[in-house]
Amino acid sequence: MFNKRVKIKDLLASEARNQEVVVMGWVRTFRNNQFIALNDGSTNNNVQIVVGLGLYDDSFLKRITTSASLKVTGEVVESLGKGQKIEVKAKSIEILGDSDAEKFPLQPKKHSLEFLREIAHLRFRTNTFGAVFRIRHSLAFAVHRFFNEKGFFYLHTPIITASDAEGAGEMFKVSTLPFDNTPRNEDGSINFKEDFFGRATNLTVSGQLEGELAATALSEIYTFGPTFRAENSNTARHLAEFWMIEPEMAFYDIEDNMNLAEEFIKYIIKYAMDNNKEDLEFLAQRMEDEEKQKPQTERSEMGLVEKLEFVINNNFERITYTEAIDILVNSNHYKKKKFQYDVKWGIDLQSEHERFLVEKHFKKPVIVTGYPKEIKAFYMRQNDDGKTVAAMDILAPGIGEIVGGSQREERLEKLESRMREMHIPIEEMWWYLDTRRFGTVPHAGFGLGFERMVQFVTGMTNIRDVIAFPRTPKNAEF
Ligand code: 4AD
Ligand code: MG
Repeated sequence: MFNKRVKIKDLLASEARNQEVVVMGWVRTFRNNQFIALNDGSTNNNVQIVVGLGLYDDSFLKRITTSASLKVTGEVVESLGKGQKIEVKAKSIEILGDSDAEKFPLQPKKHSLEFLREIAHLRFRTNTFGAVFRIRHSLAFAVHRFFNEKGFFYLHTPIITASDAEGAGEMFKVSTLPFDNTPRNEDGSINFKEDFFGRATNLTVSGQLEGELAATALSEIYTFGPTFRAENSNTARHLAEFWMIEPEMAFYDIEDNMNLAEEFIKYIIKYAMDNNKEDLEFLAQRMEDEEKQKPQTERSEMGLVEKLEFVINNNFERITYTEAIDILVNSNHYKKKKFQYDVKWGIDLQSEHERFLVEKHFKKPVIVTGYPKEIKAFYMRQNDDGKTVAAMDILAPGIGEIVGGSQREERLEKLESRMREMHIPIEEMWWYLDTRRFGTVPHAGFGLGFERMVQFVTGMTNIRDVIAFPRTPKNAEF
């Protein structure tokens, strides 16, 4: 058996002394031909390996370079040096894999995040990305724990679908038809009858519609899977492939929906705070250093950990869309013409508006409800005013929209007439409408963009730095 090692995280936490251990990992630094900082990814902390002077010849020591992989057998002892409680006095060192120092692109210094994106296959070996991906894991685990504790069922919705859940037409097509010599109908259009599924299909933009089918039988479900959007948005918060969590609940109205979303967000943040303390502190320090580069007025008032504590300990602000517009129009920011996009009732809130509301005005997460029906999806429940729908978006400081959700239109006639108005193919959606025909119930749900959540918790400003291999316009490397 090869893997008889102790993980560095466990070793650093253990009280064991003067015992033999085996550790394996990658070299971070090697000082004075004597001290190796070894890291195995279980924690950001390295274990110090002490190489007895004169134990190895020079040609061997030269191979202990940054990112070489080692198996070290040695004795755990109290450390006399500063910065660590223990160290491992090496008895034997085996080089599992050399790393050519001339060619290895990471140096023990700070690299820009942009540069690291170009070597995303190696960026896991940096402190920053180690911390981000351990926290991402914790958040994902907490998602399942939260819903499991509440008796929700994890539903796997299809990746390949024939419907456009959001009706926004931002889909990647899925087809096995040849690009040249594509089979055509008489009118020149593509003959999808000859395609793999016998119809046009695409990658899913949301599992919601299928989620509704299950929720109207199992009561409470959630999905957690990849979703795909071919929107050409080159921003710090858009990906073409992102992960979304979509709970869907029967017997919920919009207020129940808001309550659940708020509780859920607080729960997963708390879980990361309890389980990833060191990584969060590391990222908080990183953020603080970065903030120092910014002018005083742009610096955030709270540190990362402080911000997270504030969010879990305070109620989210709840306002209507109409109130949001009033706040924006009456702001000095608006009067001084500082918004790039105009503000009036009916507009889709731009990210500058969302950020003004959460960062300048309320200084906390905000839930906005009652959006104009024209800017929202066909399935949202129509309010009695005839103008707005029971939509809710949650806006987070530094991120903007992190959750989008709604109470669903459960009344068949109202749903059908809205679909007709919006040119949604009613016949094709017979299966969706059947839930309104057979035992329809008030129900609601929302979608949390997982990467935006990871951004919020880690303080990373670019969404490309919280997913292992980002997919963005003109970029699908690795
Ligand atoms: O607001 P959206 O489009 O809502 C839906 O898809 C609904 N079907 C959800 C539901 O009610 N079940 O997307 C939900 C969230 C957004 O608030 C945002 O956090 C995230 O998904 N999101 C993206 N994240 C990264 N990159 C993109 N291109 C995203 N588009 C949406
Ligand atoms: Mg949305």
